[in-house]
Amino acid sequence: STGLPGAKERTLVAVKPDGVQRRLVGQVIQRFEQRGFKLVGLKMLQVSEDLLSEHYCQLRQKPFYPNLVHYMTSGPVVVMVWEGHNVVQTSRTMVGHTNPTEAQAGTIRGDFSVHVSRNVVHASDSLEGAQREIQLWFQAKDLLDWDCCDQASTS
Ligand code: PPS
Repeated sequence: STGLPGAKERTLVAVKPDGVQRRLVGQVIQRFEQRGFKLVGLKMLQVSEDLLSEHYCQLRQKPFYPNLVHYMTSGPVVVMVWEGHNVVQTSRTMVGHTNPTEAQAGTIRGDFSVHVSRNVVHASDSLEGAQREIQLWFQAKDLLDWDCCDQASTS
């Protein structure tokens, strides 16, 4: 292995229904590609309430949970797995603060959203969270381990 330490780290990023409806999928993908991360899994799906309740298992008791389910099932989502050095933390920075009011310009939420109930994207919040979410959303066979030549992703 000749690449950076931790270059095989993976995280889950999802374009939420508002992002799909507003034709922002390409811009989200472009930001992760140009940063230097490697796309290893991608699919579009209409999410079931069961999958959502697993994904957001820590939020089931929150007062906003019914709205969150309504929002996340209002249309298809595009779910991706990105790989590269420090990808979990860097993705969170790229996505920006959960509440778009607090999100800095230059972040995805800071550039494309105004309200927490329509915040365009999701990104795993920790290594453990990423592993859990990737297993929940993808089968191992659908994550591809392909070779590429850029610094952030080479293993
Ligand atoms: S909390 O209460 O601190 O656990 O919540 P937080 O970490 O800020 O957010 C967790 C996820 O819930 C989403 N969220 C909401 N969705 C819809 N409506 C409202 N009011 C709302 N508040 C929080 C928030 O976007 C986080 O989702 P993800 O997909 O992880 O970004």
